[in-house]
Amino acid sequence: MSSAVTTRPRSPAEPLLAVAGLSKRYPIATDFFGRPTAWLPAVDDVSLEIRRGETLALVGESGSGKSTLARLILRLIPATAGTIRFDGQNVLAARGKRLLAFRQQAQIIFQDPFESLDPRMKGAAIVGEGMDHLDLGKDARRQRVAELLNLVHLPADAADRFPHEFSGGQRQRLSIARALAVDPSFIVADEPVSALDVSMQSQVLNLMRELQDRLGLTYLFISHDMSVVRHVADRVAVMYLGRVVEIAPADELFTNPLHPYTQALLSAVPSLLTGRHTERIRVTGEAEPLGGEAACRFANRCFRPLEVCRRRVPPLTPIAGNPDHLVACFNPAPLDRAGVVA
Ligand SMILES: Nc1ncnc2c1ncn2[C@@H]1O[C@H](COP(=O)(O)OP(=O)(O)OP(=O)(O)O)[C@@H](O)[C@H]1O
Ligand code: SF4
Ligand SMILES: [Mg+2]
Repeated sequence: MSSAVTTRPRSPAEPLLAVAGLSKRYPIATDFFGRPTAWLPAVDDVSLEIRRGETLALVGESGSGKSTLARLILRLIPATAGTIRFDGQNVLAARGKRLLAFRQQAQIIFQDPFESLDPRMKGAAIVGEGMDHLDLGKDARRQRVAELLNLVHLPADAADRFPHEFSGGQRQRLSIARALAVDPSFIVADEPVSALDVSMQSQVLNLMRELQDRLGLTYLFISHDMSVVRHVADRVAVMYLGRVVEIAPADELFTNPLHPYTQALLSAVPSLLTGRHTERIRVTGEAEPLGGEAACRFANRCFRPLEVCRRRVPPLTPIAGNPDHLVACFNPAPLDRAGVVA
């Protein structure tokens, strides 16, 4: 049932997914002839890897480009520039069977399952949808649907119910079962629990963790909720206006955030910060989404800018002594030495 994209032997150390220089820009103004005159860099020169079996969380405020990056990675929208390698294969060059295999291996779960589930289809048809190409007989298909419902802890009669007959948490379980039906290895979860109340949230998060352990899944987990991220992430990538500004193992990021934007983001939830700093960092000014200029995108809101920050774009670079912690800042500093005024 499994349909791997690649046929060559792989080293477990090789990342499942690697993107380099990935960009997506949208035209936002045109001249008299309809030619674009201004662009919005929704995703701007993003490079990152996702390791086999890990959960990489993607965080950042609304409009920072998280969903756009996810859609690019899944090839749901075309990229303006960059490369994507999945399981050793060039995703952007994939056609025909290879593209189909990639689409099976890489699935997505959305925030609002009510919107992504067809209200006229029953549970069995929803979960079975992705199995059409497998040519399973009726009994084998029914059996597989029952296994998947059981896997996500839904009762057997879920097969005969319509989406509106489920609770919010159950609907999200159903959409997880649908994603798993094609035996994927990689799942993008775009705010998968944001629409749920807190008790449902932890049930769905626990289920996702359990499935990850049982099935060896790799997750790209998008969330604006840092408490949720703290709970699920192995590593965290922080986005600001289309760029990754910091990426680090979750423990490291929560104890030693170095980018001013990450520090501001985390200071909004002081209970999560394990360091000494507890004051809320308030950044002022508006996010300025227009790119193109050679400057740090955060410069107009930063609380410790240098002169160079307005002349050059800070590259994402590993910090001294920790190749796993990368930050895009000319003046990175730990919180208790950051000179922050709350
Ligand atoms: N099809 C489109 N055409 C033009 N601009 C777009 C399009 N899709 C997204 N954008 C813009 O790209 C930027 C990034 O949007 P995106 O949806 O990726 O952000 P996000 O981080 O997922 O935000 P949220 O947390 O609100 O979901 C935003 O400024 C958005 O308005
Ligand atoms: S590069 Fe400069 S302006 Fe940008 S976040 Fe770092 S210190 Fe602030
Ligand atoms: Mg989004």
